[in-house]
Amino acid sequence: MKEIFERRSIRKYTDLKVSDSDIKNMLRAAMSAPSGYNQQLWEFIVIKDRNVLDSITEIHPYSQMLKEAQLAIVVCGDLERDKRADDWASYWDQDCAAATENILIEAQYLGLGAVWISGYPREDIVKGLKKILELPNKVIPLSIISIGHPAEKKEILDRYDIQKIHLNKW
Ligand SMILES: Cc1cc2nc3c(=O)[nH]c(=O)nc-3n(C[C@H](O)[C@H](O)[C@H](O)COP(=O)(O)O)c2cc1C
Repeated sequence: MKEIFERRSIRKYTDLKVSDSDIKNMLRAAMSAPSGYNQQLWEFIVIKDRNVLDSITEIHPYSQMLKEAQLAIVVCGDLERDKRADDWASYWDQDCAAATENILIEAQYLGLGAVWISGYPREDIVKGLKKILELPNKVIPLSIISIGHPAEKKEILDRYDIQKIHLNKW
């Protein structure tokens, strides 16, 4: 699939707005992701407010591209809804990672530029985001996706590496 092979992290953006229909499509793509026990423990915060975007850059050293971004989507896990929390497995972080990747691929399909910015498990960043976004106690931000119309072009890379493939056993 072209969009998967051509996607790169885009950290420079024009000042063109991202349409509401593009934003909705990225959110629909996110919610189409697979999830553990089909619990869909994700929640999404769409940030368009310049002050909020800029305040994230103050608590996260690797998020400076948000200063140029048209928006960000913060993908959060809602542990309150996790009916499997007492089992051995809680998959909220994997649900949110799958949703994050779907947003990146849909952004590529829409001709937008995007980059995955880390949240969980970095405690300092989770704490800072919780404060800025006024997240309830059991809502954990896994990722921040910075989005805009691209103002940089990146080389398409082929990372296929046969050395990383093991047949039947390690
Ligand atoms: C879990 C995760 C956390 C990341 N955190 C950041 C980040 O905080 N800031 C950033 O600029 N890029 C971040 N990235 C993007 C990676 O740097 C990028 O995907 C990697 O260098 C490969 O480049 P590519 O996306 O262009 O293929 C993150 C990616 C992942 C998957």
